[in-house]
Amino acid sequence: MAPKKLPTAGQESSATTVPPSWIDTHCHLDDQAFAADLVEVIQRARSAGVHWMICPGTSAASSQAVVQLAQSQPGLYAAVGIHPNAAFEASPLDWEQICRLARQPGVVAIGETGLDRYRDFTPWEVQLEFLHRHVRLAQDLELPVILHCREAEEELLTALHQAADRGPVRGVWHAFSADLEAAYEATELGLYISFAGSATYTNKKFELLREAVVCTPDDRLLLETDSPYLVPEPLRGKQQRNEPAHLLLVAQRVAELREQTMEHLSDITRSNAQRLFGLPPDAASEGPSSRPPRPEGAF
Ligand code: NI
Repeated sequence: MAPKKLPTAGQESSATTVPPSWIDTHCHLDDQAFAADLVEVIQRARSAGVHWMICPGTSAASSQAVVQLAQSQPGLYAAVGIHPNAAFEASPLDWEQICRLARQPGVVAIGETGLDRYRDFTPWEVQLEFLHRHVRLAQDLELPVILHCREAEEELLTALHQAADRGPVRGVWHAFSADLEAAYEATELGLYISFAGSATYTNKKFELLREAVVCTPDDRLLLETDSPYLVPEPLRGKQQRNEPAHLLLVAQRVAELREQTMEHLSDITRSNAQRLFGLPPDAASEGPSSRPPRPEGAF
């Protein structure tokens, strides 16, 4: 299948010979939505300049699947964890499996975990208990944690402050959709802020989010698609499934809002992701074609 042409940013410098390259820091490539054409999806991402993708697990089975993906596909990395919406059905054996998988090659983070009052499938106490478990595991293994939050910003920040009493909390607040104040408090705690398709939405309710996009410091900013969810504008409503190639639509909107060039945005988000997730330095400077296969056990 021919790679889909995505619009490029008008502000790119014509002197640049190498097009900007990107890291999608959150995409669920183990999702059923990609079962039929994952190879093409990854190929389209690479053609669009999205050379590195981090795939978070949402259950023990999903975490096993993303670890396998990371170990078989260059440029793909895994995070392992049990999503707050799935924690209600997780067994003690599932958690043991997460702890084992966390030590596998290709695993660069713990998650996704977090708190969700919007879809409260999992009793609140169980969500909190799982959040703390994940953060403790991340702290023990010195890995970053990937955080999900819906309608529970204060509770998340409170839990993270408690965790920070035990030791440093490193991680990312993924698909950030809260306000500037929450972003400020999160960065003070040491977190990175990752923006997804919601940053492209024009609805009034996303106005506060746009403020956070503008004000997040360069050294704390990450980008993601949250594929297959959160299809960005102008594709929103026109197609059901999001995919990593569409990261460029998120990047363009974020670049516009921040009044930055795509090159600058690419540079800062790539080096931030590299630093946070401990990706090999060449991930920021070379395309996958010029990169030797990742040695087994490199992480
Ligand atoms: Ni997610």
